[in-house]
Amino acid sequence: MEQTIPSFTLHDGIEIPAIGFGTASIKGAAGARVIASALNHGYRLIDTAYNYENEGAVGAAIRQSGIPRNQVFVTSKLPGRYHDYAEAIQALQESLFRANLDYFDLYLIHWPNPKQGKYLEAWQALIDAQKWGLVRSIGVSNFLPEHLEHLQKETGVLPTVNQIELHPFFNQKQQCKWHEEHHIITESWSPLYRAKDIIENESLQQIADKYKKSVGQIILRWHYQLGAVSIPRSTSSIRQLNNISIFDFALDYEDMEKINSLSKADGRIGGQDPSEYEEF
Ligand SMILES: NC(=O)c1ccc[n+]([C@@H]2O[C@H](COP(=O)([O-])OP(=O)(O)OC[C@H]3O[C@@H](n4cnc5c(N)ncnc54)[C@H](OP(=O)(O)O)[C@@H]3O)[C@@H](O)[C@H]2O)c1
Repeated sequence: MEQTIPSFTLHDGIEIPAIGFGTASIKGAAGARVIASALNHGYRLIDTAYNYENEGAVGAAIRQSGIPRNQVFVTSKLPGRYHDYAEAIQALQESLFRANLDYFDLYLIHWPNPKQGKYLEAWQALIDAQKWGLVRSIGVSNFLPEHLEHLQKETGVLPTVNQIELHPFFNQKQQCKWHEEHHIITESWSPLYRAKDIIENESLQQIADKYKKSVGQIILRWHYQLGAVSIPRSTSSIRQLNNISIFDFALDYEDMEKINSLSKADGRIGGQDPSEYEEF
C-alpha cells in the first residue's frame, strides 16, 4: 500500500516531505528501478548529488514511475570542486541536464570546505540560480553555525535546509538547536547509521519490541519527532516500505530521551568533522 507522508514548511514557504529516499551508490538502470520502487511505495523526496553520479538514474526513475514531476521533491548538491561562481552555475546546469529535469526543488552546497574558503561565492551562485528558476529552494550540507553566520552576514540569506550527519549515535543537539532558532530545517544524512551496529542495539531493540515496530522504524520516527527530515536509503523494497511506515505511532518522551542518551561526542561514522574534512 502506498504511504502518505506529512511535510514540513521551509522558511521560504516551500513544503518538504518529512522523509525522503537517499540514493548514494544507487546507480544505472538497476538503480533507476530501485528508486522507482521507492516512489511507488510513496516516497516523494529523492536525495541525489553531482558526486553520486546518479542524477540520470533519478530522472529516469521519476519518468518510469509516471508520477507528475511537480509531485516529486528532488534535491541535488554542488561538489566542492565547483565553488567558483561560474563553475557552480555550470555544474548545476550539468546536473539538470543529466537528470533531464528543468529544475531542482532543493539544491545544496555539499560541503563547506572552509580551508578552500569559497563557499560564500558558491552561495551567491545558488541565490542567483534560484532567481532564474533553476532551483525552487536553496540550502547547504555539513555547514557549522560559524559558516551559516558567515552566509547570513554577507548575503542576508540563510539556507532553508542544512543536511548533516545525524543518527542516534550522534544527535547534533546544539547544531539542531541553532537551526531551530534560525528557522532552518535539519535534514539527517545516514539516518540509520548505515545500519552498522545499530539494528542490533539492545536499547533500540527494547523500544522496538514495546511499540511492535522494527528498529529502523523507531530510529526514523525519532528523527521525525526531532523535527528533522531523514533520507534513509534501501535497495530492498520491503525495507523501503517499512522505513516510511512510521506515521501511525508516536514515541513517548521517555523513549525519545533514551534514544538521545545513545549519542556520543565521537559518534560520527567516519570522523568527518566539517571544520576540517573536505570533499571535492
Ligand atoms: N550530505 C552528505 O554529505 C551526505 C553524506 C552521506 C549520505 N548522504 C545522503 O544520505 C542518504 C542516507 O545515508 P546512507 O546511504 O549513508 O545510509 P543510511 O540510509 O543510514 O543506511 C543505509 C543502509 O541501511 C540499510 N537499511 C536501510 N533500511 C534498513 C532497515 N529498515 N533495517 C536494516 N537495515 C536497513 C541499507 O541496506 P539495504 O539497501 O540492504 O536495505 C543500507 O546498507 C544517502 O543515500 C545520501 O543520499 C548525504
